[in-house]
Amino acid sequence: MRRRWSIPIVVALWLIAEGVALTQPPGARAQNAGVARAQARVTKNPLEGNRDAIRNGGAMFRTRCAGCHGPDARGYVGPDLTGLWALGVSDDRIFETVREGVPGTDMPAADPSRVPDRDIWQVLAYVRTVAASTPPLALTGNADNGARIFQSTCRTCHMVNGSGGQLGPDLSRIGSGRPRAALTKKIRAPSDNIRPGYEPVTLVLSDGQRIRAVKKNEDEFSIQVIDMRQRVQGYVKANLTEVANDKQSVMPAYGPDQLSNGDLDDVVSYLATLRGPDSGRR
Ligand code: HEC
Ligand code: HEC
Repeated sequence: MRRRWSIPIVVALWLIAEGVALTQPPGARAQNAGVARAQARVTKNPLEGNRDAIRNGGAMFRTRCAGCHGPDARGYVGPDLTGLWALGVSDDRIFETVREGVPGTDMPAADPSRVPDRDIWQVLAYVRTVAASTPPLALTGNADNGARIFQSTCRTCHMVNGSGGQLGPDLSRIGSGRPRAALTKKIRAPSDNIRPGYEPVTLVLSDGQRIRAVKKNEDEFSIQVIDMRQRVQGYVKANLTEVANDKQSVMPAYGPDQLSNGDLDDVVSYLATLRGPDSGRR
């Protein structure tokens, strides 16, 4: 019985598939075949330098990526993508990031049933041309000096690759997660943009003692925090005189007298090297 209506469906699917193929320029069909052949284990972008691919990729970049990575791929809420090749990141690794996304961050995965490999390679062919045509931001900072400053100034609160404090977030991937401009701003004026999950609070105990801390959990009756000595503490609210949500981050603001412009540049250069476990200098 089923067969009777399955044939028209097959025909319809065939027509749809053919219709899609026919709307592509002949060059694209040849290109597709090339991509399919290379698919086994592609390590280099098969569409690099291909003019049609770059044009299509640019259009896709603007609709699918620019909202987060900026119109020129120089970074916005997502990082600058133009420096990846200069850092020596391989095409297949970049491809994989776009395909799989970065779990636990805003970077979405590309559903293979809707986004063919060819689309991703086209987008990357485009980004590559942007990377080649605009000189990399002047990397004036000295990352080795930045690493030293980080060890002495920041590590008490921040973990990198398994070592450091826990009052602030783990920064092991911060270089791929934030544009340099955002890192610079965060260090000079941390309270402008406080990371969710690390909200500052002040608890006032019944004896008047004030405790400054980072809030981890709160419900109607209780609150859990990490205090400035990095101890996880729980309080029953009935025993507190006050729970005040602060506007001031517990991270100190490092003005030019604590951290010169040169040192700031060095620290940001160091943070930019942190792109996942064991990627940074230690
Ligand atoms: C909703 C926002 C968003 C969109 C849309 C988005 N990204 Fe991302 N992307 C991010 C964020 C955030 C990260 C950093 C993730 C992390 O913390 O490691 C990222 C990381 C990346 C990385 C890794 C960078 C590195 O330094 O290792 C690549 C490559 C990338 N994105 C490419 C793309 C491309 C290409 C598109 C469009 C097809 C895209 N992204 C769309 C937010 C986004
Ligand atoms: C007293 C503890 C403390 C010190 C010292 C400290 N931070 Fe922080 N930092 C925090 C906390 C807590 C947060 C999360 C709350 C917020 O965003 O303000 C944070 C957030 C950050 C963020 C944003 C992370 C993200 O995922 O958005 C960066 C970047 C950062 N710190 C870098 C630094 C650097 C660089 C130094 C040294 C120059 C430093 N911090 C020193 C406590 C600290």
